[in-house]
Amino acid sequence: MDTASNTKLGNVNDLPVGDMHAVKMGDREILLIRLDTGIYAMDNFCTHGACTLANGKLEGGTLRCLCHGSEFNVKTGEVVNGPATTPQPTFAVVLKNGEISLAP
Ligand code: FES
Repeated sequence: MDTASNTKLGNVNDLPVGDMHAVKMGDREILLIRLDTGIYAMDNFCTHGACTLANGKLEGGTLRCLCHGSEFNVKTGEVVNGPATTPQPTFAVVLKNGEISLAP
């Protein structure tokens, strides 16, 4: 059985800088986001109202949920602008031979 640490979530070559996509991991959905500084991972469902952040708008290091406009720092999950008040859960990404997984 896969664990968070060895579940491969994709290849870095399939995620260009400025792009993002959601992957299923168990009963969660993880949103992988590639910035020019690296690859970041956060829960795909907005803490405000559970909208899918994969449908959001990436603006530099900020991701805006299109449902009500909450903005989150991609690296830290911090709320940059409400109405959300709860940060997005984020996960440390491990890159090994180009394969993306989450740190244990
Ligand atoms: S569900 Fe994302 S801002 Fe409301």
